[in-house]
Amino acid sequence: MMVKNILITGAKGQLGSEIQEIAAHYPGFHFIPTDVAELDLTDKAAVENCIATHKIDYAINCAAYTAVDKAETEVELCYAINRDAVKNLAEAAAGRAKIIHISTDYVFDGQSTVPYRETDPIHPQSVYGKSKRAGEEALLNACPESIIIRTAWLYSVYGTNFVKTMLRLGKERSDLNVVYDQQGSPTCAADLAQTILSVILHAEETGNFPAGIYHYSNEGVTTWFEFTKKILQMAGITTCTVHPIPASQYPAPAPRPGYSVLDKSKIKDTFGIVVPEWEQSLERCIEKGNRPIEKKRYKICCIK
Ligand SMILES: NC(=O)c1ccc[n+]([C@@H]2O[C@H](COP(=O)([O-])OP(=O)(O)OC[C@H]3O[C@@H](n4cnc5c(N)ncnc54)[C@H](OP(=O)(O)O)[C@@H]3O)[C@@H](O)[C@H]2O)c1
Repeated sequence: MMVKNILITGAKGQLGSEIQEIAAHYPGFHFIPTDVAELDLTDKAAVENCIATHKIDYAINCAAYTAVDKAETEVELCYAINRDAVKNLAEAAAGRAKIIHISTDYVFDGQSTVPYRETDPIHPQSVYGKSKRAGEEALLNACPESIIIRTAWLYSVYGTNFVKTMLRLGKERSDLNVVYDQQGSPTCAADLAQTILSVILHAEETGNFPAGIYHYSNEGVTTWFEFTKKILQMAGITTCTVHPIPASQYPAPAPRPGYSVLDKSKIKDTFGIVVPEWEQSLERCIEKGNRPIEKKRYKICCIK
């Protein structure tokens, strides 16, 4: 098998960092990790130049505007990154490179009572959700041979996320009020990273890159309240009591879906992926968080 060039965009984020961490296990892949300083996806010419110069075979788009509440006021910037930048990547990659793009459960309105399938109607409620849907559409229009993986409740030892925030607050406070009436499935970014590389490996081994939308999260369903209790319990934090509150008592600028469980049958059946239960992955992440991370091992490529 010829070595394949894999561009990672947004490589300093949670997911991008997790992909870099396991990259060494894939000797058939040459990874080109970039973040906004090396490859700003809103710069169309730079994106085209990168795809062509580095003979990119696959682009994993981990770049995004992810500040869900801030997006309600930073609408233009949010769309520039989540829609226009995706269009730049799609147009540059069309006919050259295959794209794996990451999207979100926020494209749904959260009114369902059964896990969302890829074919279910889209009805985003927030600016972030609408911008991510616009990104999906831009990608599928310009480069229909792409794979979109929608995920939810993403966390990692890297970056800022719910798990790390709860670990910090759990140590600082004696009481925490957490929403009990929003249901979903947490996703360990390390598991999603593994899944993305399995998808590429599958494509290389079978010669088939099955384009389309897929859903991925960890197995199981929980609420933010139950998730928080588990986080503190697994971290051995006993000095903080977690109290359930309704979402109506935690007003946030951006509306959150009340139910955002994703049906993962398609990704499991297509790629033969075994998805870990959310508690198992959470435990692994918390253990990993207690160990020093050799972040410096992961180099961002200078491609200019
Ligand atoms: N976090 C979640 O709970 C969640 C849930 C569902 C889906 N997702 C999706 O999962 C994907 C990965 O999320 P994540 O949590 O890993 O994101 P993240 O940690 O916020 O990382 C995104 C990275 O993209 C970079 N970036 C921003 N603008 C860019 C640009 N113009 N060009 C290149 N890079 C740029 C960011 O840099 P700066 O930090 O400097 O802006 C950051 O390093 C995203 O598509 C996100 O929408 C996330």
